[in-house]
Order: sequence, then structure tokens, then C-alpha cells
Amino acid sequence: MTPSTSRPRRVAVTGARGKLGRAVVAHLRDLGVDVLASDRTAGTDPREVDGEFLVADLTDYGQVVELLGGSDEHEPVDAVVHLAAVPAPGMTTNAATYANNSAVTYNVFAAARAVGIGRIVWASSETVLGLPFDTPPPYAPVDEEYPPRPESTYSLNKALEEEMARHFCRWQPELVAVGLRFSNVMDVEDYAQFPSFDADPHLRRWNLWGYIDARDGAQAVERALEHDVSGADVFVIANADTVMSRSSASLMAEVYPDVPVTKVLGEHETLLGIDKARRVLGFEPRHSWRDHVG
Ligand SMILES: NC(=O)c1ccc[n+]([C@@H]2O[C@H](COP(=O)([O-])OP(=O)(O)OC[C@H]3O[C@@H](n4cnc5c(N)ncnc54)[C@H](O)[C@@H]3O)[C@@H](O)[C@H]2O)c1
Repeated sequence: MTPSTSRPRRVAVTGARGKLGRAVVAHLRDLGVDVLASDRTAGTDPREVDGEFLVADLTDYGQVVELLGGSDEHEPVDAVVHLAAVPAPGMTTNAATYANNSAVTYNVFAAARAVGIGRIVWASSETVLGLPFDTPPPYAPVDEEYPPRPESTYSLNKALEEEMARHFCRWQPELVAVGLRFSNVMDVEDYAQFPSFDADPHLRRWNLWGYIDARDGAQAVERALEHDVSGADVFVIANADTVMSRSSASLMAEVYPDVPVTKVLGEHETLLGIDKARRVLGFEPRHSWRDHVG
């Protein structure tokens, strides 16, 4: 891969032990980025990469300031990739999800400002598009053009984080804050279950049959770290295809017959629109579950 001159030299990655975090840390280190990985516990999982790691609970503002701003033990960073969160609705109580996720993201944004970091890439979520689509989407493929429609506390918090990013950028106009609305994150070992989705088109309609390969998620982070336009922006990040063997057009016709389809769809084309991420970030998914499941 061609090294980018605009890519930050040293980057903190929060949530580094998580599903997405592991892929992001590995990918950035492969690119030669000096990564300070962080999570609230240190792990023994052999899939985790070796390298510089700092245990920090991001609900504690002081720990976030030290993580980003450096200490006698580690260098400050130039940018932060913020992935730490309770990653879905229903994993704990709504109040606990909100308390953790709102605190960690506020602390990361505020600490970045306090220590002078000009670039934040952070995980928003596909959920702000209106998942689980009990109320049908306004059109498909869905995209960034309509306001957030959170339907859970988890998603409400992601929508508020997107709004918070806009205000931090208003306060600090040179700040770059890129929110990545990731689809459902998948590792290669998850693909074995995909053919079982075919039997019932309603099984995965909750996210319009989308997914994101963790490695392609990491590529989106790489592109966002190189994005040199100041201000807050958000991008839907999904793979180029759906989780289904049936055509995308037939899925929409059967499950959402009244939802306008705004383009001629490729056979398996994603219904989570990634045109903006392609156009603005240069994101291009390289992986598909179809390459892994016979
Ligand atoms: N997994 C998905 O399908 C999905 C989809 C869309 C968006 N996202 C978002 O992407 C990000 C990463 O998700 P993931 O799937 O890797 O989740 P994950 O649960 O595998 O990893 C999240 C990590 O964040 C850490 N964390 C949580 N609270 C923390 C705190 N207070 N201090 C320090 N660390 C803390 C956890 O220990 C965990 O290792 C999250 O922000 C999530 O909301 C995930």
C-alpha cells in the first residue's frame, strides 16, 4: 500500500480489544502507523496483536487526557480512532449503555480538544438510519441524506454523538471529526452462518441485509484518518453486497414493496448506500462473504 503523507504518525485506538478494534489496530500497524492501543482491560486472547497498549477506563476523563496527551510512560498521539462502546442495544440496561457510551465519547472529544488533537475518527452506527426498520426507510439504498432516526437508546446516543461532533467542530473549526456509521461487523469465521439467512428474507431485514467485514471497516478507518477536510461528517460504511443470495431488488420488492428504490440495483448491491464513502473517502470494500463460503 502506498504510504500517505497526510496520515497521522501516531494514533490512539480505543476499544482496541474489540471486534473492530483488533482489525483496526492490525491494519494500521501493517501500514506503519505508530498505534497506541487502549481498552479497559488487557487481554490474553491470542488473536490480539502485540504492541503498545494502555489500559484506561474512558468514563474517567483524567485517564482519557493521559491516554491522548501522553505521560512519562508514553508519547502523546496525533489522532484518535474512538471505537470503545457497549456496541449494540440490549447488551446491558439502556441506562448503563447510555451512561457508558455518552461518557466515553464526550471524554474523548473533550480530551482531544484539551490536549490539541485535531483529528478524531469514531464509530457511529448504521442504527441511526432507522434500524430495525419496523418503520420502513424513506427510500433505498439508505444514505446520509436524511436526519438520524434512532429507535433505541444505543442509537439515540450515537445520534447525539454525531450532533456533539458538529458542535465540537463549530468550537474548533480546524478539527476533523469523521463519524463512521458501521454496519454489522463480521469476522471471516462469521460467514459460515450466512447461507442460513436465505431461508427467511425477514430474518435480516432489520439492517437491510447489510454487513461490514472487519478488515474493510479497518480500511474505512484508514481512509478517514487521511481525510483532510475540516469539520464533522458522517459516512455509511458497509460492504458492497448484502448477506443474501437473492437479488437486492427482489428483497426490496418482497419485504418493502412501498419503499422507493432510487437506483437500478446490481444483483447483490448493498442497500446501505456507500456512494458517499466511496466518493469522498475513497473507501472501496475489498472483501465479501461470497469469497469465503462455497
Ligand atoms: N459490532 C457491530 O456490529 C457494530 C456496528 C456498528 C457500530 N459499531 C460500533 O463500533 C465500535 C466497536 O464495536 P465492536 O463490535 O468492536 O465492539 P466490541 O464490544 O467488540 O468492542 C468494544 C470495546 O470497547 C471497550 N470499552 C467499552 N467501554 C469502555 C470504557 N468505558 N473504557 C474503555 N474501553 C471500553 C470494550 O472493553 C470492548 O473491548 C463501537 O463503538 C460500536 O458501537 C459496532
